[in-house]
Amino acid sequence: MVEHNGGSSYISCGSVTAVNGEWIRLIGSIIMPPDTKTAGLYFETNYKSVPESEDLIDIYIDDIVVKKVDIVGVDMDFTPLYEIHKDYFKIGVGIVSYEIGRTEYTSIVKQHFNSITMGNEMKPDYILDYETCRKDIEKYNLEPAIRYDNLDVGLKFAKENGLGLRGHTLVWHSQTPDWFFREDYSKDESAPLASKEVMLARLNSYIRQVITYCQENYPGVVYAWDVVNEAIEVDDGNEGGYRSKDSLWYQTIGSEFVEMAFTYARKYADPEIKLFYNDYNCNIYGKVLAIYDMAEELKAKGLIDGIGLQSHYGLRDPSIIDVQSTLERYGKLGLEIQITELDINTDSNTEEDLLKLGTRYKKLMNLYRYMVDKGLANISSVTIWGLSDKNSWLNDKKRKYPLLFDDYLQPKDAFWGFYLHDSIPSY
Ligand code: XIL
Repeated sequence: MVEHNGGSSYISCGSVTAVNGEWIRLIGSIIMPPDTKTAGLYFETNYKSVPESEDLIDIYIDDIVVKKVDIVGVDMDFTPLYEIHKDYFKIGVGIVSYEIGRTEYTSIVKQHFNSITMGNEMKPDYILDYETCRKDIEKYNLEPAIRYDNLDVGLKFAKENGLGLRGHTLVWHSQTPDWFFREDYSKDESAPLASKEVMLARLNSYIRQVITYCQENYPGVVYAWDVVNEAIEVDDGNEGGYRSKDSLWYQTIGSEFVEMAFTYARKYADPEIKLFYNDYNCNIYGKVLAIYDMAEELKAKGLIDGIGLQSHYGLRDPSIIDVQSTLERYGKLGLEIQITELDINTDSNTEEDLLKLGTRYKKLMNLYRYMVDKGLANISSVTIWGLSDKNSWLNDKKRKYPLLFDDYLQPKDAFWGFYLHDSIPSY
């Protein structure tokens, strides 16, 4: 903790041990007196000492960005988000290993969330072990080699902190290496695709190894698996609406890869772990119907427990009515529903737009709770796709402000909307 007594003088600072010539990071927060109505300041700086420097030196942190946050009269140790919604659903956040390594992020995760999803680290790109597969193709052709270090990061953090974890994702056309679909695991993109039998064996083995590793080493941590992600793309023109053009799963196995993935997952997963189909744009009519039909068939065979709605939304689209009717439709299937990757794409951070974002979050949270209250949709968790605006995946080409915490990890109006706080207009 650092205190600042105003003006040009500086007082009191925590101390850290620095090794000459090596960089250290200083992270901290400055808590302002309550009457300033400022929630806190966050600072981060780097310091590199030089060999000649004395043992004790002062560091003046005087170029921090001061961000005033009006906390609308709420105590700093306010009720955690997950407590606010505890009678309804788990409250989750998507995080990456970089954040798990930094206390400024993990302290917020531990304070406000009771579920996490790894943003990337549990996807096939991060788990399949190319070098080992190629070393002994005979051995690994039907039983792909897996590396567990990336799986461990989230599982360990969740276990240590009593958080649930959504396993994301076993089978996806994206973030799965091209070589996985080719004969002899070839990296040559003109090499022939592996046969259907080979791919079914690889699918089975991959699902078995990943699910088994997680539940044997971290029992009770994973509460849901996204078994298949984004298999529907109606525009590709296939029967059943299956995605084919950019899906090597479809191209090698055909549409039955979905049912087979669920069959294997059901076989290996502990009975209390819920199996989900997860997708985006679930409100587009044709897509809703295709997902509905597919899920209905899987349900009849006892293979699926829920539908995940990613919910990458805009400030206005989709309308709340559209979200409601989608939830209602899936609700009728009698499957669980989870909101798996909620964020609201906005490229403006004017005060006015930040407040609108707060209202948008509030409307959605009120809708989710209404659907549960009325027994219209069994929503069991709501996950926001990232902690801080600074690290949102939407910042790809243009700066975006879609999440609950700003670049300085201060709660935004979006947070208070999600919190259903009175200070955020409901409409
Ligand atoms: C995103 C991650 O957040 C990014 O870091 C990565 O570069 C691409 O994938 N649908 C999903 C998520 O199911 O896995 C995606 O996550 C976002 C869209």
